[in-house]
Amino acid sequence: MGTGVTPSLAESAWVTTPIATPPPWARLAALGYDRLADGPERRLLGGLRHQLLASARGRTLDLGAGTGANLPHYPVPPVTQLVLVDRSAAMLTRARERARRLSLPVELLQGRAERLALPSASIDTAVVTLALCTIESPDQALQELRRVLRRDGRLLVLEHVRAADPALARWQDRLAGPWRLLAAGCHPNRDTRGVIEAAGFRFESISLRRHRGIPLAILQPLLVGLARDPQPGPGATG
Ligand SMILES: C[S@@+](CC[C@H](N)C(=O)[O-])C[C@H]1O[C@@H](n2cnc3c(N)ncnc32)[C@H](O)[C@@H]1O
Repeated sequence: MGTGVTPSLAESAWVTTPIATPPPWARLAALGYDRLADGPERRLLGGLRHQLLASARGRTLDLGAGTGANLPHYPVPPVTQLVLVDRSAAMLTRARERARRLSLPVELLQGRAERLALPSASIDTAVVTLALCTIESPDQALQELRRVLRRDGRLLVLEHVRAADPALARWQDRLAGPWRLLAAGCHPNRDTRGVIEAAGFRFESISLRRHRGIPLAILQPLLVGLARDPQPGPGATG
């Protein structure tokens, strides 16, 4: 379903919007997310997104896209199309506003990362930023990414992860319960690198270090990396 409007380079994307109308409290939470993220975005995360997404190309899936914080950082071209998936209608509604400013086709899909409504081998680049910490079954979501990625497809990751420093990891474990309640299911102590590798991806480049620009110590260890699936499934072509 298209917008029916011919996109002009000045303004628009072809935005597909099969998303529900979010309740007011969810809209408020999505607004709050952007407000809270504003400082760390300007100090640190925006730069990391920009660097990471320089490797995106072709039809690109942004999984757990949230309010679309990655959108201003995609290089167009070589990125030719974007597919944004998120379970939250409120987050996607904000992402849709950002998407309107882009001059490439953008598709927004409300749904779960664990079961993507996308054909096999239809994606060149998969992007996951600050979402594998929250997705309930990251192993299932990663299997879905293996399915939808084309042969030679790439996975770009920016995630806060379990600390290598045992003292900080212990604090991540202690605070995991309350943090999950406060932060919509986010697991500060998840070994996301291990989960990605156990799913079958191999990192070609990886940076794993603590970034003090993030105000909360338990969220400071960040993984930034590019991974591929060395044994793409039977559906993967091209
Ligand atoms: C912390 S936000 C990150 C948003 C964005 N990727 C960013 O970098 O700012 C995590 C997002 O993952 C989404 N999410 C959590 N579990 C999900 C799932 N199972 N399937 C799809 N989206 C999910 C949430 O709705 C939320 O928008």
